[in-house]
Amino acid sequence: MIIAVDGPAASGKGTIARALARHYGLPHLDTGLLYRAVAANVQRLELDPSVEADAVAACDFDDSLLDDPMLRSDAIGSLASVVSAHPLVRASLLQRQKRFAQQPGGAVLDGRDIGTVIAPNAEAKLFVRATPNIRAKRRHAELRSHGSPISIDKVLADIRARDLRDSTRSNAPLVPANDAAFLDTSFLSIEASVQRAIDIVESRI
Ligand code: C5P
Repeated sequence: MIIAVDGPAASGKGTIARALARHYGLPHLDTGLLYRAVAANVQRLELDPSVEADAVAACDFDDSLLDDPMLRSDAIGSLASVVSAHPLVRASLLQRQKRFAQQPGGAVLDGRDIGTVIAPNAEAKLFVRATPNIRAKRRHAELRSHGSPISIDKVLADIRARDLRDSTRSNAPLVPANDAAFLDTSFLSIEASVQRAIDIVESRI
């Protein structure tokens, strides 16, 4: 069984995907981390993220980078959204994600294009969303808890910019698959969101 979980930043898709993976005993891939690793590598190598050849050169990263907590920062998230718009960057990460999805026994993947590009035949597809203000509040609280002095206005502006870039790029934009079920977490607790996600998956399998 393949479960595809897509949605914008701070919608709750990662939390839901991890909980689904635990519930069904499936391996989980946070595909955003791959783009974040490319972004961190661009930064480390002092390359230009807006130049496709530079971003492609940064795709050859060491897997140990995926465990680096700095990948979780908002700055790297924004940079990831710049490098991920390059078709050759997406092409370079495509097979790795497809292989993960196709492993025997199934998998849960979360990202922006799982239901549309990576696993269009997934048994269950969820598109997780929440209002920009609520997503900004969540992300702000998370960043503050890690000691970041960032303001909520800046977080909201970053979220809006990232939404716009991710949903308007020509290659694999953030759009719901035709057969995706919507899950709005704006006014749901984590537990209620996860239960709703399980109900959706159960109704699809
Ligand atoms: O999900 P996360 O916020 O970690 O993703 C960081 C960025 O990576 C996103 O803003 C998006 O631009 C890009 N991404 C993508 N396709 C995916 C996952 C993430 O383009 N499947």
